[in-house]
This record gives sequence, C-alpha cells and structure tokens, in this order.
Amino acid sequence: MIAELLEKFGIHQAHSGVFAGDWITKPGGPEFDSINPSDGKVIASVMCASSKNYEQVLVRAGEGFKRWREVPAPERGEIIRQIGIALRKHKKDLGLLITLETGKILSEGQGEVQEMIDMCDFATGLSRQLHGLTIASERKDHRLFEQWHPLGVVGIISAFNFPAAVWAWNAILAAICGDTSVWKPSNHTPITSIAVINIVASVMKSNSYGDVFSLCISGGHLAGEWIAQDKRIPLVSATGSCEMGRVVGGKVSQRLGRSLLELGGNNAAIISPSANIDLALRGVLFAAVGTAGQRCTTLRRLFVHDSIETMFMEKLCTAYGSITIGNPWEKGVLMGPLISEPAVEKMMLAIEEAKKQGGKVLAGGNRILGGGNFVEPTIILASPEMPIMQQETFAPILYVMPYHHLGDAIRFNNEVPQGLSSAIFTDSVREAEQFLSTRGSDCGIANVNIGTSGAEIGGAFGGEKDTGGGRESGSDCWKAYMRRQTCTINGGDQLPLAQGIQFDL
Ligand code: UN1
Repeated sequence: MIAELLEKFGIHQAHSGVFAGDWITKPGGPEFDSINPSDGKVIASVMCASSKNYEQVLVRAGEGFKRWREVPAPERGEIIRQIGIALRKHKKDLGLLITLETGKILSEGQGEVQEMIDMCDFATGLSRQLHGLTIASERKDHRLFEQWHPLGVVGIISAFNFPAAVWAWNAILAAICGDTSVWKPSNHTPITSIAVINIVASVMKSNSYGDVFSLCISGGHLAGEWIAQDKRIPLVSATGSCEMGRVVGGKVSQRLGRSLLELGGNNAAIISPSANIDLALRGVLFAAVGTAGQRCTTLRRLFVHDSIETMFMEKLCTAYGSITIGNPWEKGVLMGPLISEPAVEKMMLAIEEAKKQGGKVLAGGNRILGGGNFVEPTIILASPEMPIMQQETFAPILYVMPYHHLGDAIRFNNEVPQGLSSAIFTDSVREAEQFLSTRGSDCGIANVNIGTSGAEIGGAFGGEKDTGGGRESGSDCWKAYMRRQTCTINGGDQLPLAQGIQFDL
C-alpha cells in the first residue's frame, strides 16, 4: 500500500526535504525516518537541509517574490484555482497519506484535503477582492485611500496534527496576496509535506512559476530557528505548542518582524439543563475523541449542569466504551493512535498527576498494548482547582465537572491561560447570549450547539491569551499577509495642511 502511494506522489525512499523551485537532490543535512504511528514502521526517509541549503531556499523565494508580486491578483487566483483542481484529483490518496503519517482516521485525512480545497476556492474569490478603503479627506481636492501590497517571503511553521491544511491556510492566502513562502513542517509529517509540494509545484511549473512555494525540512527545530531569526522574512506564521510560540514569537519580535501565532488550546464546553442531549453527546464525542484528542481545538474540559450530570455522564461513558480504536485506515475505526511514544507517555503522566490531584477516572485511562501508540480515550471527574486542568495535554483526556450557576461555568471556561475555542449546548436563547456576550467566553471561537473543534475555513481561526492572538484562514485574515499603504493625493493647486496648520512664509 505504502510503496504504491509514494510512487503516485513521485516520492522515493530517501527523498529530499528541500524544495527551492526544484528539489535539491542531495541536501547536506542529516537523514531521518518518517514513522507510521499505528505500527512503528518506516514510511520513507527524508534528507534534511543544511544551513547552506536554507540559504538557497531563501534566495529563490526572494527572487520568486519579485516576480510573483507583479502578477495581477486575479491571475494568481486562476493558478490557485488550478491547485484546487489538482488537490481534488489527489484527495483520496493525499488523505490516505495523511492518515498513515498522522494516525488520523481516513475520513479526517480526506477532510483535511477538503480544507485545502476550500482554501483554494476561497482564495480564488479573494483574488478579486483585495481591496482597500477610500476615506473622506479633510482637505479640499485631496483623496485619501488605503491600498494593500504583497509583503514578501512568509515563513510557515506547521504542526503534525494538520500537516497539510494549516499549510494551505497560510501558503494559499500568502500566494493570493502576492507573497512566496518557506515551509518548515513538523518532523512527524515530512512525507505529507513533500507530497503537497509535488502536487502544487507541478501546477506552478505548468504556469511557469517555480518558486512561489518552497519547503525546508531540517532535523529538529533548526529550520524553525533559521526562519524565526531571518530578517528577510517579514511574517512568520507558527502553529504548535505555547512553548514553541514563546520561542518563535520572541525571536521574531526581537528583530521587529511580525508573527502570527496559533498555539495551544484548553477548550471547554458547557452542557446546560435545556440542551438537546443527543446532539450534545455527539458534539462532545467528536470534539473530545476525534483526531485522538490531538487538535488544538480538542475538547479538554466539560462542565455539566448538576441536574443532568449523572444521566449525561452515564451516556457519555457508554459512548466512550463503544469507540472503535484501531488502524485509522480501516473502516469503522473512529480513533487511531497518538503521534508518538513520548505523546503516550505524556498522556499517562497527566492521568497519574490528575489522580494525585483528586481526579477520578470514569472511562479509559490506559494505553493499549501490542504495537503502535494506541490509548483509550479517557474521562476524568475533576474539580476546577486541580492545577493539571490549566495545561494542555495533547491527548484524549476529558476533564468533567458539574456546575450549578451558568456564571460559574463561564468563569471556569475562562480561568485557563489559553483562549482558543469554547462551546455551550443549550436551547435557551438567554443562556446562549450570555455565553456570547462581553462577559461570556473569552475565546477566539465560541460555538452554540456545536463542539469546540471542526471549524470551517470561512471564519477567522485563532485564539486569545496564550493561544497567541493570531487569526488564520477566512474572513479578512488575508490582511496579515500584505502591507497596508495609506496614500493621499492632492489633486488641487493649493497645499492645505491637515489639522488646519498654517505654515506660510
Ligand atoms: C489545529 O488543530 O491546529 O477547527 C487546527 C478545527 C480544524 C483545524 C484545527 N479545522 O478543528
């Protein structure tokens, strides 16, 4: 299955991880293996970039930018439209590759490719809408307006859990805006990034543009550091943990660059007594167990009204018990493995710690022995003062607590360092509005009768506080990838000064 799949994407066993308009066939960095988290087997190995190779990538991306920014935006849109078509053709295969490399189930692997396609469609439309404002000038015969120009080379640092879609959020928007990009993917998912670049590069080549999208895989964090420190990169978009964001954001701000950070989440949902219980159960299940709890939007904390707690928890534990765990490419499986052995260890440590802090395991709690990084999705009965609840463990652990007053549940929702996603399940308009009001959820995403994960690309995606404040994908997020220029034209023969200042000889 794997050999055939790799062949479809033109990937050989030891493939270069450096693309600078063309693949650098023998990059100078170390070689490492991409491992299938379901069986521990090697998918393929990758040759990494040396600092010299990084330099080659940057030079090409810089040259590419000078050409690409001159292309009229709707023409860029036409090429992105073609990328969308190419992705549609590869949806099944690329989805399978994502499943093999990340361990997410087939339907989610393909969903991720769909998210890329959606981005291409969105960006194609956007290519005719990169417009600025015209503002009434206070001066006679003056025209005041804003225009948006391409920014430059954008650095993209992406995480293992969305190895392709999050690249598309950034790279496709950047490209529509006239920027080129350099991508440092997660070391867990190099093969997906090589496949993505191969798909995209063939479309670019057929349009005679080689160096709009580039790739730089290094061993460890090196390429991330190179990108963060590089003055030639005006914008760095980074997705990953809060720790990573602090380092990258710190380095970028030191050189007064811009960063767009999409970091950890510690997302909560509230189940009110008026909630449609079936709907809430399904919403909670997908948000907490989907992607084996490895989304930044995964539901990690659940506040259930005390009047329905026993009934709801019984149903939820029963549902947890019937989740099929196994090879993510097999039919009927709802949960695959965690990404790595250290991820399993971190989950087990968190469960131990939660128990020490007074938590009680209601479902799951164990790793599944017999090869692969499989674990049981876990529910822990907790209390709001448990310190472990302040941290994001990237695994399917759901902390559950009863609440009595909605105000308390909203306060619990907000009393964590992170602020990405949140949800309430209620049929009460008053409760929903309270949750969405200024004294409601403090997160970047607030949903009613929908779980915390699974956002569409049309909205702006991102969160507040330690989540980093960045916004990516839809809405007006494109503005982050451009530079705004405010222009005033004097069409008259006088020189009136703003604020009525007189400065005549
Ligand atoms: C992430 O986990 O970094 O809303 C992104 C969602 C997905 C994106 C998650 N569309 O869950």
